[in-house]
Amino acid sequence: MKIFKKNRVEATNIEDKAAFTFNLFISSFSGVATTYVIQDIHLGKIFHLLYCNSGLHVSKEIESIAMHGDRKFIQNIRRDYLKDGLLEENIDSDPVLQFSKWFSHAIDENLVDGNAMTLATSAGGRPNARVVLLKSFDQEGFTFYTNYGSKKSLELEENDQATLLFYWAEFERQVKICGTVKKTSREESEEYFHSRPRESQIGAMASRQSETLQSRNHLEEVYKKLNKDYEGKDVPLPSFWGGFTLKPDYFEFWQGRPNRLHDRIIYDLLNGSWQTKRLYP
Ligand SMILES: Cc1cc2nc3c(=O)[nH]c(=O)nc-3n(C[C@H](O)[C@H](O)[C@H](O)COP(=O)(O)O)c2cc1C
Repeated sequence: MKIFKKNRVEATNIEDKAAFTFNLFISSFSGVATTYVIQDIHLGKIFHLLYCNSGLHVSKEIESIAMHGDRKFIQNIRRDYLKDGLLEENIDSDPVLQFSKWFSHAIDENLVDGNAMTLATSAGGRPNARVVLLKSFDQEGFTFYTNYGSKKSLELEENDQATLLFYWAEFERQVKICGTVKKTSREESEEYFHSRPRESQIGAMASRQSETLQSRNHLEEVYKKLNKDYEGKDVPLPSFWGGFTLKPDYFEFWQGRPNRLHDRIIYDLLNGSWQTKRLYP
């Protein structure tokens, strides 16, 4: 249903309003994945939105109902997972190759941020998580780049055990990868750093990632100054910037299936060889 995908619909004239209303009705009976939004909102409210608030963004109004009115709104957001299955006979015995198949599919299909992954760390008792971008992978591990003074880096120094999590909603797939991290070599970090656009190199140099910043303006001033300082010169790899590679010892491949009977296949590294098992969903 368009309005929710686009998150912004304006109904400014009577034809638009009529067409929009018609769409609401069609969608609410057609059973497509996104119709839940409509099914649980009192139709009177929809008409109110359409006819009394002409020119307003409908999605904003619906958001407001979701937050303050209909408690069931969020509870009723759900969909069935129908796209694919993951069976033992079709998986690769090597989890890195299995990952490679799914990852290539995500990239080939131009998923937005298909290489984005949540990195979970755990130090000092409280787990932490944030998104980073996968920049390479092979049998040696999965590599991302960051600021070595950041919170994540300090946490990884304290505890080198970490987890990476990919979620490719469009394919109803999740992959979890657990393992041990270590810093990439200086040469590897250099090579990647210099492959980045110059602006990103300066940006990395300007940021004391995860430290308190007094103002946005201050950051922009630092950026401008560095840009000037390095005019016509190569930007050197800052000593506080580089990669981490996570060497996996556990993978889980999750494929959504109808009726919540999802497929979950894990690979556990035991005595140097990968053992696979199926888990209950
Ligand atoms: C899509 C996306 C990609 C990101 N990629 C990176 C990345 O590759 N490296 C990085 O250090 N931070 C990246 N970030 C920012 C991190 O999520 C995080 O805010 C930052 O690294 C500070 O985290 P920390 O304080 O836990 O160290 C990305 C954020 C998003 C939303």
